[in-house]
Amino acid sequence: MVATTVSTGEGWSSRSAFILAAVGAAVGLGNIWRFPTLAGESGGGAFVIVYIACVFLLGLPLVLSEIFIGRVGQTDAVGSIRRVAAQSQASPGWSVFGAIGALAAFLIVAFYSVVAGWVLYYVSVMGMDLVQAIVEGDPLRGALAGESREQIQQRLGDMFANPLLLIVVHLLFMGLTFYIVARGVSSGIEKAATYLMPLFFFLLVGLVIYGAIEGDIGDAVAFLFTPDWSKLTPQVMNSALGQALFSLSLGVAGLITYGSYIKEGSGLGPTAGLIAIADTTVALLAGLMIFPIVFAVGLDPAAGPTLVFQTLPFAFQTMPGGALFGFLFFLLILVAAVTSSISLLEVPTAYGIGERGWTRPKSAAIFGGGAFLIGIACLLGYNVWADVRPLGFWSLFAETDILDTVDGFTGKVMLPVGALLTSIFIGWKADENLLRTTTGLSPWAFGLWRFLLAWLCPLAVAIILVTGLFPSIL
Ligand code: PFF
Repeated sequence: MVATTVSTGEGWSSRSAFILAAVGAAVGLGNIWRFPTLAGESGGGAFVIVYIACVFLLGLPLVLSEIFIGRVGQTDAVGSIRRVAAQSQASPGWSVFGAIGALAAFLIVAFYSVVAGWVLYYVSVMGMDLVQAIVEGDPLRGALAGESREQIQQRLGDMFANPLLLIVVHLLFMGLTFYIVARGVSSGIEKAATYLMPLFFFLLVGLVIYGAIEGDIGDAVAFLFTPDWSKLTPQVMNSALGQALFSLSLGVAGLITYGSYIKEGSGLGPTAGLIAIADTTVALLAGLMIFPIVFAVGLDPAAGPTLVFQTLPFAFQTMPGGALFGFLFFLLILVAAVTSSISLLEVPTAYGIGERGWTRPKSAAIFGGGAFLIGIACLLGYNVWADVRPLGFWSLFAETDILDTVDGFTGKVMLPVGALLTSIFIGWKADENLLRTTTGLSPWAFGLWRFLLAWLCPLAVAIILVTGLFPSIL
């Protein structure tokens, strides 16, 4: 290991480029697939309100903490934490949470790419259907005309049963992620965000309007915003908290890494606020896009993880313009997934550059290649390795397949541990002057920020960690 940390030396071309890339990292499958799934399963309004509270009371202070560490450190997560620790007379050992974060990001991108591969497959299915609709002279017909509901649902099962197909779409998605990351910060990641984020917002707004016109927006609003407090169980609170961390990409050092490419200026508070607001707005808009469509055709909002892949294609079949909007819907998810997966791969890639002295293409190839192989194990868990239970000795994961084990272990263990250590480090250890001058917060905002980090965040995150690991307590 190289003892001294080299600065990766790259940077964003402007503050708004950083914000766009950071919002792109936050907005992903978590907003469009996981949030509506959880909200649907957890009864809607009560979950949504707790989620919003978690984002602003716990997530936002952590977003600012991560950006602060990167901004001061100017290098990969491990080196950046080490630098902040040195300037705060704290132990360099704190950098361990940078390493945990880089490892978590590496594992997450492995299965994230597999799921994004499914989305890619659906983009191609819906795209071919749209082409056929155009050829038939009826471009505004419903999606997948002539298929029965069973056939539409069966498509997901058929895809899972086909390892070669899953490997191809996973390879395509991981290859794209690698390509963008290998090109570097300004000509790869920033450029991708500059093109893809406006496209994303355009598609999102278009689909929300479509849902409002063709779907049942009244029922969707009532479902998402009317709290039924009797539904607020400890499990629901726990999943709202976990979702807030996942959606803001916290605990995996992603924002430390992106923050390290901010070259000058302070005033990080409003930037952090903007990221949290944008991410939450997108999650809510995704709910307002999906549920009107689900309710319009009388489908079950609590369908779970298959909501997006089985329930919605059927809904698009019965709606005018469904072929076109169904295609745009999956394209939207794909775009969101790309800007998140590049942020995930960037964390270990920066580590390889900063701590190991590798070139960027080499580092991206090593971690992208490794994640591709782990992803293959994940997708084989849907067919030839369906009986494999990697952590079967552990009662929590006794019944869990490979992909869900990687997802569960990173989400329930690594991410909260990363977030917990971040809050303790910034809440208790980091030098107060350094924090004040770099963040540029007003005195009261600074006091509140530090208080939340020192007390509320560690407590709340410790609760997610313990109850996540020992669910029988709840
Ligand atoms: N925030 C992303 C999403 O909501 O899909 C997921 C994610 C991306 C988690 C990047 C962690 C991360 F570092």
